[in-house]
Amino acid sequence: MLTHRKADHVRVVLGGDVEGSHRFWDDIQLWHTALPEVDFAEVDPSVTFFGKRLKAPLVITGMTGGYPGATTINENLARAAAEVGVGMGVGSERAAIVKGQFPESYSCVARYPVPLKFANIGAPQIIPQREGEKVLGVDEARAAMQLIGADLLAIHLNFLQEMVQPEGDRRARGALDAIGALAAQMPVLVKETGAGLSRPVAEKLQARHVVAFDVSGTGGTSFAAVEHHRAKAAGAEREARLGRTFWEWGIPAPVSLRELAPLGVPLIASGGVRSGLDIARAVALGATAAGMAGGVLKAASTGYEPTVNELRHLVHEFRTAMFLTGSRTVADLQTARYSITGLTRQWLPP
Ligand SMILES: Cc1cc2nc3c(=O)[nH]c(=O)nc-3n(C[C@H](O)[C@H](O)[C@H](O)COP(=O)(O)O)c2cc1C
Repeated sequence: MLTHRKADHVRVVLGGDVEGSHRFWDDIQLWHTALPEVDFAEVDPSVTFFGKRLKAPLVITGMTGGYPGATTINENLARAAAEVGVGMGVGSERAAIVKGQFPESYSCVARYPVPLKFANIGAPQIIPQREGEKVLGVDEARAAMQLIGADLLAIHLNFLQEMVQPEGDRRARGALDAIGALAAQMPVLVKETGAGLSRPVAEKLQARHVVAFDVSGTGGTSFAAVEHHRAKAAGAEREARLGRTFWEWGIPAPVSLRELAPLGVPLIASGGVRSGLDIARAVALGATAAGMAGGVLKAASTGYEPTVNELRHLVHEFRTAMFLTGSRTVADLQTARYSITGLTRQWLPP
């Protein structure tokens, strides 16, 4: 079941028509600097995230694992991430940890010197969903980290997705305490899955030892859309309709980033990042790194060469944005001038 679901997600996303309709990152306009007073060759896009040096502020966020086809995808991503010097996460590891399903589809990542790696489990899996069901605790979370040699454990919040999934896990009570119990034992990053994090949610988590966040806001892959397609194919009318209704639900990624920036912890900005210019917009707004999932999936499922090419294009675009804002370092870019326009501006609290 789980194996089918993970394969379905990749297939549905590759099939298209799963994105939000508004590109919120396009509402962030970086100001052009006509006189950069820096040579393009001098522009240094490297950053430090959680003590690890990345050659550019980019993390490929968790997508897959747990079925045979996922090995190729994760291997292409890991090899390319190691070559270009960016971070990477894997998809939810429950299948491998609890059911022993295809652990090599995750552990293949450990073979490459990826500078920063994120293990992944879901918040619904750390609280009991059904009578007698085994939840993932400290031992399982440690096993998930060990399987890929992770630096941090990413715990995803995906209750929108669970509502639209015909077989979804809908118990959420107690997740905060359960996350806190894990975060007291290991470095935990909490991420959304395309519906964004607000400041009150992040503050509660920060008070429970969570050390970093990935905003994963609205504007890119919509899991309401992904599950809409799956529900429709399964003849689950109620969920198919719910997925349509909630297709655009969530906090736009740049708005979520602005919400969390004052917390002063490392932040990944993901949700609709599709170019190196989007990465620069995210950094200017306060992200430590940008995160990308759906935008690299096609290349990753095609082969290593397309994947490494895509990452190189992204870094070149990012360096160009640095040059054109007169930023020699990423710290300079963090002080670049920008305007917030359109729908994103309307979203921001006064
Ligand atoms: C095919 C696919 C599978 C995903 N599976 C997971 C997952 O298992 N765990 C997780 O935390 N996020 C998962 N995500 C969510 C991404 O990490 C990311 O938060 C989200 O897709 C928004 O980024 P994007 O617009 O760049 O795709 C998945 C995304 C995709 C496209």
